Amino acid sequence: MRPEFLPFARPSISDEDVQAVTDVLRSGWITTGVKCAELEAGFTDRLGTTSAVATTSATAAMHLALVALGIGPGDEVITPSMTWVSTVNMIVRLGATPVFVDVDRETLMATAAGIDSAVTDRTRAIIPVDYAGAAIDMAGIRAIGVARGIPVIEDAAHAIGTRRSDGEEVGQVGTAIFSLHPIKTITSGEGGVLVTDDEAFGENIRRLRFHGLGVDAWERGQQGRSPQAEVLEPGFKYNLPDMNAALGLSQFHRLDEFIDRRRDLALRYRERLASIPGLTPLGDAETTGRHAWHLFIVRVDPETAGVDRADFMAALKSKNIGTGIHFRAIHTQKWFVDHPDRWRGTDLANTEWNSDRICSLPLFPDMSDADVDDVVAAIRDAVPSSSGVPA
Ligand SMILES: Cc1ncc(COP(=O)(O)O)c(C=O)c1O
Repeated sequence: MRPEFLPFARPSISDEDVQAVTDVLRSGWITTGVKCAELEAGFTDRLGTTSAVATTSATAAMHLALVALGIGPGDEVITPSMTWVSTVNMIVRLGATPVFVDVDRETLMATAAGIDSAVTDRTRAIIPVDYAGAAIDMAGIRAIGVARGIPVIEDAAHAIGTRRSDGEEVGQVGTAIFSLHPIKTITSGEGGVLVTDDEAFGENIRRLRFHGLGVDAWERGQQGRSPQAEVLEPGFKYNLPDMNAALGLSQFHRLDEFIDRRRDLALRYRERLASIPGLTPLGDAETTGRHAWHLFIVRVDPETAGVDRADFMAALKSKNIGTGIHFRAIHTQKWFVDHPDRWRGTDLANTEWNSDRICSLPLFPDMSDADVDDVVAAIRDAVPSSSGVPA
């Protein structure tokens, strides 16, 4: 057994990251300022898009996007049930109705056809999710948005640095949100970024991020702008402090290095797990060019593997190996079960099948190849179907 616990995720923090945050702490300005602006410029420069607005989380970014779109009671928003509950909470809190579509059984991503069939005359937004670092079929989904006049906000919380099969990087086109939470590919402690190629929409998000004022605190304090900025509409307090932005910016410089290491680890898992019956990694989406490998997910099928997911996770834990579930389907969670009038859903068979079986294995850039081999050895001990199957 491993002497040290192997978590399923851990941020890779370098001396440069520590120095970047320390410099901000000593600078005399620790809330939103020049570092936040530099982080935003990093995103617009890399993606060649018009606007990037950094927020305290991707959830906050999605909240602002939905408010900016005017989503409210009577409106429907199409999204998968197989996602993190935070975005759906925002839809519900605005009084709108989430409409859950099923996902592809192998990629956990919604399909353009499934989304198209869920559109009604009350649909006001579509939120597709790039799952685990793969790229969803945005060409197909954008076509629906254009044909039906429905805005699309891509939930790219998992997909900083992901590329589509045509080479386009996620966030280059349209509007997307990224997460800088500590388990994500790069982190600012907590944080999110909304990117958009719609300049007016970006300006609206920027205003809503900071009380709905015409200028933010940094502009007023440092740029000599009027201290008496007016509230143009009631806004929120979702601005990303420079302490966080400095960490995010320092990490941003290592994004491609992180993704390369994650890919190597993921391919090692794939190769070593391929022969175990009943333990199936997610499949490849043909719409993905470069996978960011935010998560490495397997499905534990009790009938074939001879062990159910709970016992599988407990067995790994007993060997000092952490795992996670990303995610339990939203419509199966208590509040949604208790409030069937607050959401709608199509047939969710693939979502439910996966919700009962998915398990995320440890994956982070500072893991060694030997760490992967430890996990695989623990899995082989935990899964009866692997006995007699050559390693
Ligand atoms: C698919 C998805 N969307 C949105 C979020 C929200 O991100 P944040 O924690 O930055 O608010 C997450 C976070 O895990 C996520 O997985």
